[in-house]
Amino acid sequence: MNSRKLFFCILLLVVAACTLLLSQQPTRSALMPIGKPVQIKAPLGLPPVPIPPDNPPTAETIALGRRLYYDPILSLDYTVSCATCHSPEHGFADPNPVSEGVGKKTGTRHSPSVLNSAYSAVQFWDGRSPSLENQAEGPVQNPVEMANTLTVVEQRLNGDPGYRQAFAKAWGARPITYEMVEKSIASFERTVISANSPFDRWKYGRDEKAVSDAVKRGFIVFTAKDKGNCAECHTIGAKDALFTDNEFHNIGVSVDMGQFIDVGLYAVTHKDADKGKFRTPCIRNVALFPPYMSDGSMKDLKQVIDFYIGAGNSNANLDKEIHVLDFLSGQERSDLLEFLKSLTGEIPPNVGPPVLTETQARR
Ligand code: HEC
Ligand code: HEC
Repeated sequence: MNSRKLFFCILLLVVAACTLLLSQQPTRSALMPIGKPVQIKAPLGLPPVPIPPDNPPTAETIALGRRLYYDPILSLDYTVSCATCHSPEHGFADPNPVSEGVGKKTGTRHSPSVLNSAYSAVQFWDGRSPSLENQAEGPVQNPVEMANTLTVVEQRLNGDPGYRQAFAKAWGARPITYEMVEKSIASFERTVISANSPFDRWKYGRDEKAVSDAVKRGFIVFTAKDKGNCAECHTIGAKDALFTDNEFHNIGVSVDMGQFIDVGLYAVTHKDADKGKFRTPCIRNVALFPPYMSDGSMKDLKQVIDFYIGAGNSNANLDKEIHVLDFLSGQERSDLLEFLKSLTGEIPPNVGPPVLTETQARR
């Protein structure tokens, strides 16, 4: 082999090695918290919290995310925080059917509970956001929610000495970017998880006294295919339960005379068969956050049960697992209600509004 050929061979090898190295680089940015990652302990009834490799939670990022979650600094006119629509006093959801954002503007969908969102494969009723990190960009820029821009939020936080210090502790001494904001909020949200409910203590803790007989009967109504058939979509596993299959279904919500008021998943996929499909919500703690459904149209759990008994609003895409349940006796209906109430779990400490020091509070 002459030296020219050898040179080209080596060049080829170098190029191949570089391509291989580059292709293995993570596509997301390499911003990582500087602190020691902490373990988030899952309560009885829930699996370990999924953690993305590029955002391991640390004590500093969680505390920072908590502060940001409760801070109206994220909204254009300093009036609206995440907690305005996802309040700990209402099971981290909104007691109004649709929420009011900046300037009292309203959207068209009900604010879901943030409790256990950490377990959702995708976010929003129509699943249009792939992660909690990505989701946290939505409300800030939404004109009927916080009506702000990511750049303005970055400027405000960089101009605030208290935040500069807290961000430096969490992410290192460098200018604050929105990526740090969304990653911090997501890490806080991964601690807003709740289970160890009476149901969990009975089903997974094997404590027969944890629930009433009505709840045990209601469990059968919820799970049996020839009864309520609820667990078909609100899944219960052998070791834990997410109460969602993380899939989209049309159960006949937001439908009027066969017309779709909210097209749901169709807005993401543009497939006709997806009109009126919404993501199955996790119904843990459901008694804490009325009203219900993506349009906030049902004021209590009794209405929800009645809706399912009537098989929802009829439409072309109604799920094959939804059918009239008028054969359920009065007793079975009230047992089902008791079962839903037994899903209220423990809310972890340190997820409410943080107590701020005087310097932090001054602005
Ligand atoms: C003005 C009210 C409002 C504000 C402020 C708001 N949200 Fe939301 N949030 C909503 C609504 C409405 C939805 C559902 C929208 C949809 O599905 O299209 C939602 C959805 C979500 C979801 C998805 C939950 C699920 O089950 O799909 C998360 C997580 C969330 N918000 C977190 C936040 C965070 C974090 C903030 C602050 C940065 C915030 N929200 C600010 C109203 C609000
Ligand atoms: C075919 C799948 C499917 C079946 C079966 C099903 N659900 Fe649902 N459930 C959903 C979906 C999807 C939603 C959200 C719909 C929406 O809001 O537009 C939902 C919403 C709910 C909600 C409201 C939660 C919230 O955050 O607002 C409750 C409560 C509920 N279901 C309980 C039940 C009960 C009880 C049964 C059995 C009688 C049942 N579900 C059967 C898919 C299903």
